[in-house]
Amino acid sequence: MSEIPTLEDLEARVGDLSGKRVLVRTDFNVPLDDDGNITDDFRIRSALPTIEWLTARGAHVTTASHLGRPKGEPNPKFSMDPVRARLAELAPGVELMENLRFDPGETSNDPAFVDRLVEGMDAYVNDAFGASHRAHASIVGPPQTLPSAMGRLLQKEVDVLLGMRNDPKRPFVGVLGGAKISGKLGVVEALLDVVDSLVIGGAMCFTFFAAQGKSIGDSLYEPDMVETCGRLLREAEEKGKALHLPDDMTGVDAAGNFATFGANVSEGGKGFDIGPGSAAAFSDVIMDARMVFWNGPMGMFEDERFESGTRTVAQAMADTKAFTVVGGGDSAAALAQFRLDDEVDHVSTGGGASLELLENGDLPGLEALRKGT
Ligand code: 3PG
Ligand code: MG
Repeated sequence: MSEIPTLEDLEARVGDLSGKRVLVRTDFNVPLDDDGNITDDFRIRSALPTIEWLTARGAHVTTASHLGRPKGEPNPKFSMDPVRARLAELAPGVELMENLRFDPGETSNDPAFVDRLVEGMDAYVNDAFGASHRAHASIVGPPQTLPSAMGRLLQKEVDVLLGMRNDPKRPFVGVLGGAKISGKLGVVEALLDVVDSLVIGGAMCFTFFAAQGKSIGDSLYEPDMVETCGRLLREAEEKGKALHLPDDMTGVDAAGNFATFGANVSEGGKGFDIGPGSAAAFSDVIMDARMVFWNGPMGMFEDERFESGTRTVAQAMADTKAFTVVGGGDSAAALAQFRLDDEVDHVSTGGGASLELLENGDLPGLEALRKGT
């Protein structure tokens, strides 16, 4: 991705950055609790290398981000105030605009909104990896008029994820979990082309089980994806890729009591985690890999009774000698909960963005920087 300008390229182009006003698009879309406190500031800390690089050169930095999904109008629930307070502790003197999505022009990529964003700015830096799969105003607009560059975080994410995609170390194992296969269909297909094996846990496995004709009780699944899962199973076989599904599970029985199931869930029962046998088998696959990409928890790890599958996989990610990458969102939260986030090679700040980059090899935000002025 050498054709995307770096911070050094920007400096070479703009000259002395001292006193220059730089707009930095960050992804400060952090999780908040019910009282509006930040529960994980990973995304804010991840933007610091870029911010510090700029401020060290005397640039005047204004950051801008979305937070949550307000519908194009101000909503105190999604105010940037908590983020601004944390940023002031980590990077004093750096400005932060109000939530970009308080204006409908952000998501609709309205040129008039882009004009307002870039007004008075001398340069633009995109460091919002987690939002770079969105063709929104603040992501794709500014490079059309301002000298622009990718920040350090964006650069690192792209290096790591495209490196996995384009130069895999084998065996390369994909580990997917989470509730839904529907949102991850594209990435499953793309991964089937590059990985040697795919491990599937989380509630999405029940849609595969339904395709295999297993009984899934009252477990969560996606009826309209059953056919697709059947096709993916056939595709994996045709391509000679191992697709590992759990063969035991834990959950609750019809009476709501904790239960262990084999490959079939009993009538009225619900599966909430992969079982100990499957967790051990998945762990072995990870231990034998040379490269692993993990996205999505194996079960409902927020509930102590159903955390062990995700914990075992997280521990294997920490213990394996393989190069390990964790795609943002829930799997990153799980790693943090188990205090293993420092034990993997790269935790991506992007959930959807990392999947889309693996799938397509490009993102709207990267394209915009490449095409820039
Ligand atoms: C994320 O959290 O996935 C990014 O910040 C993008 O947010 P979005 O999914 O609301 O566009
Ligand atoms: Mg998202």
